[in-house]
Amino acid sequence: MNYLVTGGSGFIGSHLIERLLKKGHSVINIDNFDDFYNYQIKIKNTLESIDENLDFEFSEKETDIRNLISLSKSKKYTLYYQDIRDKKGLEEIFKTHKIDLIIHLAALAGVRPSIERPLEYEEVNIRGTMNLWELCKDFNLKKFVCASSSSVYGNNEKIPFAETDNVDNPISPYAATKKCGEILGHVYHDLYKIDMIQLRFFTVYGPRQRPDLAIHKFAKLISENKEIPFYGDGTTARDYTYIDDIIDGITKSIQYLENNSDVYEIINLGESQVINLNEMVSTIETAMRKSAIRKNLPMQPGDVQKTNADITKAKTLIGYKPDTNFQNGIKKFVEWFLRK
Ligand SMILES: NC(=O)c1ccc[n+]([C@@H]2O[C@H](COP(=O)([O-])OP(=O)(O)OC[C@H]3O[C@@H](n4cnc5c(N)ncnc54)[C@H](O)[C@@H]3O)[C@@H](O)[C@H]2O)c1
Repeated sequence: MNYLVTGGSGFIGSHLIERLLKKGHSVINIDNFDDFYNYQIKIKNTLESIDENLDFEFSEKETDIRNLISLSKSKKYTLYYQDIRDKKGLEEIFKTHKIDLIIHLAALAGVRPSIERPLEYEEVNIRGTMNLWELCKDFNLKKFVCASSSSVYGNNEKIPFAETDNVDNPISPYAATKKCGEILGHVYHDLYKIDMIQLRFFTVYGPRQRPDLAIHKFAKLISENKEIPFYGDGTTARDYTYIDDIIDGITKSIQYLENNSDVYEIINLGESQVINLNEMVSTIETAMRKSAIRKNLPMQPGDVQKTNADITKAKTLIGYKPDTNFQNGIKKFVEWFLRK
């Protein structure tokens, strides 16, 4: 099959591409290597995903990306240095390739930065996503997997969070863009019969995790003997999901879309195991065999108190079976972190 992955040089996207290529599929990756975090990390993600030698000589961004594109030219993989806000540029790609299914992961992620730059989040996460759907309409493309987020649940009190719960109360611009994506996605499904699965990911971690996310940030600070920012009283809790389980969930969603028609589904992809901040830090300390220095700080605006996924729907509809517990997942993350 020919898959188009957006954001394929990021954390989740690079793992997905790696899995799809290993299964013998063709992949087109659209990524603009945005500056949300260092582009060099995204180059390394890309090299790992296509199983290329990691001895890459870095110079400056534009040159490096050009070199990466020529290095990664293979029959089964095409990389486009392309912004999803640029519809004309996207259109050229749609004209050039026969695409069977899109997995749309490109986005500005991160809750706190969205409070600083809400308009940019709106442009990328809403307009950029609509550009893709407009092109699906024009090019008669009918299968679409879209990254949503557990953040749409806001501070809902009913735990665990189920897809049927009300999500009218997001508490950050990022969460609102994701909810908006779910609603607009339904419009495109209804009007143009685009089969679509919206996946609500619950805090994903593992090798290549984004450096802005807590587990990665804490591991780095602990390794450098620096203080870790410890927000609140340690009882905030997350349903952490190991990257391999997320990739299983995405590939099972792809299969579901390929085998069914008239689909619009929203599906939680979590682990269904809740870990509080205290437990998270102590698990990293154990895996790193090193103590953290905690700097106590108040809770941050936009941060939710707790996330916990009800994954009954994922299990029954697509056969999702997450099987990496937090201790094992952190061990694998720390092994990668210390090796890199
Ligand atoms: N990592 C998580 O815990 C998590 C949780 C919930 C939802 N998500 C969602 O999953 C998706 C992937 O997240 P991730 O953690 O891999 O993030 P990431 O930042 O590592 O990957 C996103 C990729 O999209 C690219 N991108 C950003 N803006 C773009 C644009 N305008 N045009 C083209 N490419 C662009 C970036 O360069 C990056 O490579 C995102 O949609 C995110 O909102 C992630």
